Amino acid sequence: MVSYRVGILTVSDTASSDPSLDRSGPILSTLLTEAGFTDITRDVCHDDLLSIRSTVQGMIDRSHFDLVITTGGTGFGLRDVTPEALTPLIRRQTPALTHALTAFSLTKTPLAALSRGVTGIRKREHGAGESLIVALPGSPKAVKECMEVLLGGGLLGHALELLS
Ligand code: MTE
Repeated sequence: MVSYRVGILTVSDTASSDPSLDRSGPILSTLLTEAGFTDITRDVCHDDLLSIRSTVQGMIDRSHFDLVITTGGTGFGLRDVTPEALTPLIRRQTPALTHALTAFSLTKTPLAALSRGVTGIRKREHGAGESLIVALPGSPKAVKECMEVLLGGGLLGHALELLS
């Protein structure tokens, strides 16, 4: 687990204007650190399709992050464009992983049906290897619940092991 490079991207107009208002990014970072990840980089960007796409693409193709987790912008609002930003980056679909997140989330709240979260695998454009992309909802509560799925039972660690 220790050597994986992880990128966390908070997608939020509010947090972009004032990074101190980012609550979910720090929670993700803390949970991953507690789980044993040591190489974690955080960034924040607006709810803007091209910014989200180029930031995540850079994290994978240039910085070779093994895992990129985004938080926010998965809902039904007009400015919720994270799924549209990330889907073209994905080369291999991971529908069961998305389903696992949704299924568990629905046991917590029916509002989980309002997230259009995506997951998938990207082949790095420069350099060997593949990276996992996970787009989570924006609320701290949703992030904690989804991380329970990813970290519980070693799901995330095993997924990264298979990609490395
Ligand atoms: N998933 C979990 N596990 N827990 C939650 O509280 N909230 C939902 C949903 N997914 C929620 C959840 C709500 S209220 C919304 S609007 C959508 O995620 C989209 O959130 P986003 O636009 O911040 O990405």
